[in-house]
Amino acid sequence: MTSPIEAVRWSPDASAVRIIDQRRLPEHYVERDLRTLDEVVEAIQTLSVRGAPAIGVCGAMGLAVAAEAGTSASPSFHADLRRIALAIREARPTAVNLAWAVDRVMALVDAAADRDTVLAVLRREATRILDEDRAMCRAIGEHGSALIADGARVLTHCNAGALATGGMGTALAPVYVAHGRGLRVAVFADETRPLLQGSRLTAWELARAGVPVTVISDNMAASVMRSGHVDLCIVGADRIAANGDVANKIGTYGVAVLARHHGIPFYVAAPTSTIDPATATGADIVIEQRAAEEVAVPFGVRIAPVDASIHNPAFDVTPAELVTAIVTDTGIFRGPYRFT
Ligand code: MRU
Repeated sequence: MTSPIEAVRWSPDASAVRIIDQRRLPEHYVERDLRTLDEVVEAIQTLSVRGAPAIGVCGAMGLAVAAEAGTSASPSFHADLRRIALAIREARPTAVNLAWAVDRVMALVDAAADRDTVLAVLRREATRILDEDRAMCRAIGEHGSALIADGARVLTHCNAGALATGGMGTALAPVYVAHGRGLRVAVFADETRPLLQGSRLTAWELARAGVPVTVISDNMAASVMRSGHVDLCIVGADRIAANGDVANKIGTYGVAVLARHHGIPFYVAAPTSTIDPATATGADIVIEQRAAEEVAVPFGVRIAPVDASIHNPAFDVTPAELVTAIVTDTGIFRGPYRFT
């Protein structure tokens, strides 16, 4: 039995947010301690910590430590705190969990309270968010495992496993629960260009847990499905709009189209913190655009000429009609979706 992955947690003396540096995997397992605003924002923006629930948890915990390090008991304390909260909230735009977590913590701050009182509130609520995320992952796993039959072959995209959350993952949680119960379940991991979260992270954590995993490059998914090797797809989400449109890692939409063409169920697994009733449809979701170098010079090797233009949206939107069901911590929802 391997020890559980803890992508985000408090350091042993609780002075820092301890993360697994996901840029170094699968070759090196390295942990990092975040203490300042700059460290928290940099870790989120460079995907040292990544995945919608994980950046939500890290945002809340990071706010607590950054406020401790970056404020004093001066008259400007509350203004300084708001500035720190805003910088963390805006570190990445697409995953609603980050804004949700920061807003949730800040909503508890009494503008008349002194610094020590506020810092204690920040810490307590951040810890609650971490604990709740763990519980939500487990509940997603329990609900979602009903979709997995013995011998099932699951295709997933990007990494929506333990590395992407405070707990056991979202899309991979049903796989872990089924595997833990002795069912035979195998996973195809799309490698997920350009940053390869599928091959670097999903394959790493599944192999570590003893779940059979096969890495395929993204352009192989169609033929693998056509060959009859995939029984179901499960992916995570960065934001689910009120009508069930789903923003997730770029390439997810293509997987959904392929699944529909081949008559394969396409499931999205996400905690309720990823559902954003304030966003009416996928058209309202801000899609993060990332640096051209991620596509043109991945991992330090130039694979596109300097003169070529590069398009690098980090996410796409899968329309609700392609989503067979959404697995959440409160149960399984089928369309038409109306999240309020
Ligand atoms: O850019 P990333 O690696 O943070 O993107 C992550 C994803 O798209 C995940 O599928 C999503 O956040 C769900 S994680 C449980």
